[in-house]
Amino acid sequence: MATLNINGRDVTVDVPTDMPILWVLRDVVGLTGTKFGCGMALCGACTVHLDGQPIRSCVTPVAAATGKKITTIEAIGDTPAGKKVQRAWLDLEVVQCGYCQSGQIMSASALLAKNAHPSDADIDGAMSGNICRCGTYPRIRAAIKQAAKGA
Ligand code: FES
Ligand code: FES
Repeated sequence: MATLNINGRDVTVDVPTDMPILWVLRDVVGLTGTKFGCGMALCGACTVHLDGQPIRSCVTPVAAATGKKITTIEAIGDTPAGKKVQRAWLDLEVVQCGYCQSGQIMSASALLAKNAHPSDADIDGAMSGNICRCGTYPRIRAAIKQAAKGA
């Protein structure tokens, strides 16, 4: 049994404390916007924020999130940086198949929340763990820059 703070709400779940957060989000709580890709911290599809830091929820156990705030793609639009990122993503039509994109948006939002005007190197550093099979990288970079203009 564990109590997690997910998108501003305390949720008590009857799960082992070594269960990855991703399983809780998708299968227990029903927040399916966060995606399962590799399950090994290699693709970034499962990225959520833990106290504002982007983490791979497929390898982060429930025990590591107790007492911290989890933010998922369902609520990132309620943060100033997340709102700007989502607006830029829509304006530039970043998405292709979409599978990687919630993770991309979570990483981009965390970047802009701590660095309002990232350089290309900053963007590369923050986004390098998020893989896109559709190759939307140029549009992702452009959207982060557009979001930063309004940040
Ligand atoms: S599913 Fe977590 S990094 Fe790929
Ligand atoms: S948009 Fe298809 S994997 Fe990124």
